[in-house]
Amino acid sequence: MIPTWAQLVYLGCAVGFILALKGLSGPRTARVGNLVGAGAAVVAVATPFFYLDLDHLPLILAAIAVGSLVGVLGAQRVQMTQMPQLVALFNGVGGGAAALVALLELEHMGSFTTDFDVVATAFTIVVGSVSFAGSVVTFAKLQELMTSRPVVPPGLPVAFVAGLLATVVLTVLVVREPAVSTGVVLAAVGLVLGVLLVLPVGGADVPIVISLLNAFTGLTVAAGGYVLGNVVLLVAGTLVGASGTFLTLLMARAMGRSVANILFGALRGGSTLGAGEASDRPVRSAGPEDVAILLGYAERVIIVPGYGLAVAQAQHTLRELVDVLLARGARVDYAIHPVAGRMPGHMNVLLAEAQVPYDQLVEMDDINGEFKQTDVVLVVGANDVVNPAAKTTPGAPIYGMPILDVDEARQVVFLKRSMRPGFAGIENELLFDPRTTLLFGDAKDSLAKVLSAVKSL
Ligand code: TAP
Repeated sequence: MIPTWAQLVYLGCAVGFILALKGLSGPRTARVGNLVGAGAAVVAVATPFFYLDLDHLPLILAAIAVGSLVGVLGAQRVQMTQMPQLVALFNGVGGGAAALVALLELEHMGSFTTDFDVVATAFTIVVGSVSFAGSVVTFAKLQELMTSRPVVPPGLPVAFVAGLLATVVLTVLVVREPAVSTGVVLAAVGLVLGVLLVLPVGGADVPIVISLLNAFTGLTVAAGGYVLGNVVLLVAGTLVGASGTFLTLLMARAMGRSVANILFGALRGGSTLGAGEASDRPVRSAGPEDVAILLGYAERVIIVPGYGLAVAQAQHTLRELVDVLLARGARVDYAIHPVAGRMPGHMNVLLAEAQVPYDQLVEMDDINGEFKQTDVVLVVGANDVVNPAAKTTPGAPIYGMPILDVDEARQVVFLKRSMRPGFAGIENELLFDPRTTLLFGDAKDSLAKVLSAVKSL
């Protein structure tokens, strides 16, 4: 039985999680939101120590110490571009932990347990295992420990359906007799299902699957909270489940795809994501001095940051360049595409790190009308989010994705290293447009050269 005071503390923590989410919805309040959420989590974890008579205290404390150390070191060392795989790993561990707790709960279930409780426990075991195994595979894909292309082993759909049927049969067996051994088999089937779910998903879609698995973990934790009669787990899990589901849907919509297409597109042989060769068609390229002249005498400039800005870690140099252009009297904004980069809010986080004022960041829908009156658009390491094929080429993997209408501007300058395509693996006609100039090289080097050339104008 959880004492009333602890229930009240848990309720306070649940409110803390809700306030944290509210804070995280805007850049100005995100830091405080994060701290409130973390504080509520610490209180929620610490509370049971004050009312439970724990048998294995040293072991529990050791596990907490190891987990905290790994978490802190991992989070401190991770590069911004590796954030999605870190999230995948943390998320998977959460799902796996919930599955293990549920597995152990089976041992305490007897004739007094309702069938619904056992079904909730079985659900936690299966979905937690799916989330764990799926997250490990997504981590391996993003960390390039295995191919990031879709992998479709022969017979995958049949194996998947067989796995689903097996979970139903095993759940029925567990309800009849809640034995840990049956639970272990259930977990094993869940692990296989998790691998099969993620293997056919191609590189660019992996972050969306991470978000989906995150939603799964939330549901797992919520079901675990129900089984354990713990309100804070129930609320936290529901929040994670709901926000993960929304994020998945929003990301899929921003990419102009359905979640089913992302998960099962490769099974129909329709996915070309992750492929793509460098083009050898002629383009107009220029040196940093030419780009400096274009930018230095422009009245209206829009910067389009993309994944390459994160790879090059060029955000500080970019901000310096923008500051110089502003000082020369130009009007400059950053156009933010919802799926630029490799994770939601990637560009916002990157530019915030370089102290770019929030009011210079303009969302796609608000800035799209302005490209027509723009003298120069500087595309820094972005490609797919400005590729007009999304509007003009039915059948292209990004067809239907809303893009930044950079093709309407007077001049476009691309900073990239080669003629390789972006993540979707398809050519960008805008690179061959007569109004487009390419400055080849690492974005940080190129920006540094353009910056010094603009300064000496
Ligand atoms: P991409 O289309 O992937 O293009 C990145 C560009 O950066 C490439 O043209 C690449 O060309 C260039 N680049 C890479 N490293 C560079 C460096 N060091 N210096 C200069 N340029 C560099 O990126 P995007 O336009 O941001 O589009 C994002 C893509 O990811 C979309 O397809 C989107 O659907 C997908 N995606 C996004 C998310 C989220 S939530 N953001 C989630 C899943 C998928 P070079 O190799 O020639 O340099």
